[in-house]
Amino acid sequence: MDRKKKIIKRCAILLLILVFGSGCGKQFDTETEDDYTPTDENLIVVGVSQVGSESVWRTANSNSIQQVFTKENGYFLIFDNARQKQENQIKAIRSFISQQVDYIVFSPITEFGWETVLQEAKDAGIPVILMDRQVKVSDESLYTTWVGSDFEKEGELAAQYLAELVEKNGRTKEELSIVVLRGTDGSTSEIGRSEGFHKVAAEHENWHIVEEIDGEYTTTKAKEIMKRVLWQYQDIDVLVSQNDDMTFGALEAMADADITPGEEGDILVISFDAVKSALELVEEGAISVDVECNPEQGVYIEEIIAALQAGEKVEKAYYVPEKVFTKDNVGRYLESRTY
Ligand code: AHR
Repeated sequence: MDRKKKIIKRCAILLLILVFGSGCGKQFDTETEDDYTPTDENLIVVGVSQVGSESVWRTANSNSIQQVFTKENGYFLIFDNARQKQENQIKAIRSFISQQVDYIVFSPITEFGWETVLQEAKDAGIPVILMDRQVKVSDESLYTTWVGSDFEKEGELAAQYLAELVEKNGRTKEELSIVVLRGTDGSTSEIGRSEGFHKVAAEHENWHIVEEIDGEYTTTKAKEIMKRVLWQYQDIDVLVSQNDDMTFGALEAMADADITPGEEGDILVISFDAVKSALELVEEGAISVDVECNPEQGVYIEEIIAALQAGEKVEKAYYVPEKVFTKDNVGRYLESRTY
């Protein structure tokens, strides 16, 4: 794009920010927009639509984006929090398109329903980078690339570690009742973790999944569900909770009912994400296994944008590195955990 066009585009963005940013409440949630001036025409404009702020993990994910897409690094970030609503994400993406941003980054709340808006982005010539979760679309050229976790592998790892625990505790002949607290229904992380766990669970005849419920990845919802589940079933052996925030809620419900978590307690607890406060519970033995979901995806996305800017080709998918934490290794990582 030549310099004149760029200046016109940046002025249009400034105008939209002034119009929408003042009159229509908090449409954009960014620290940089106030500082924006037309002299910033060399900055790369990135519109990010985040799912919400439902979990500690999500906050860390948003931070990783805000830390890299800074003016010092040559970017102007427009960050929108969709508050867990698909229609808000669609609205944000449309607003990024009308502002002619250079890149759209977004974490789709669920996999379906994106075809139309992604076609609009494609028609406008704006590359879309998916973060964390994926979309199901008939035409894969509607997005450029995706950065996130291997959720199915996470589910399999959780089940494999559970199998090891069961064996270590001499419970392979025992009938085990398992409750699964699932994340947001239809999200890539929920689908993958459920599929991976089921795959391994099918190999264990003594594992019985008595309930699988959508806990929406939140502490409040999970606490409410766990309270009911504990009242309904007297003999739960294992809780698989698809993120740490739900685990915190479930643990509160267990404490209220005088039920203790852990190998020495009543219910084995398996969790996902591995945020610091959950790793502390791994160290204490309340959570037996925590499968990491790495939220620090900002640096990878920035590298991809730098590559695209340089005219390089990028892969269709990038997996972030992840570990599994148990009492045996957690001590080595706890102190350096920043989120
Ligand atoms: O999609 C990733 C999941 O979404 C994380 O496990 C969870 O904490 C978040 O809200």
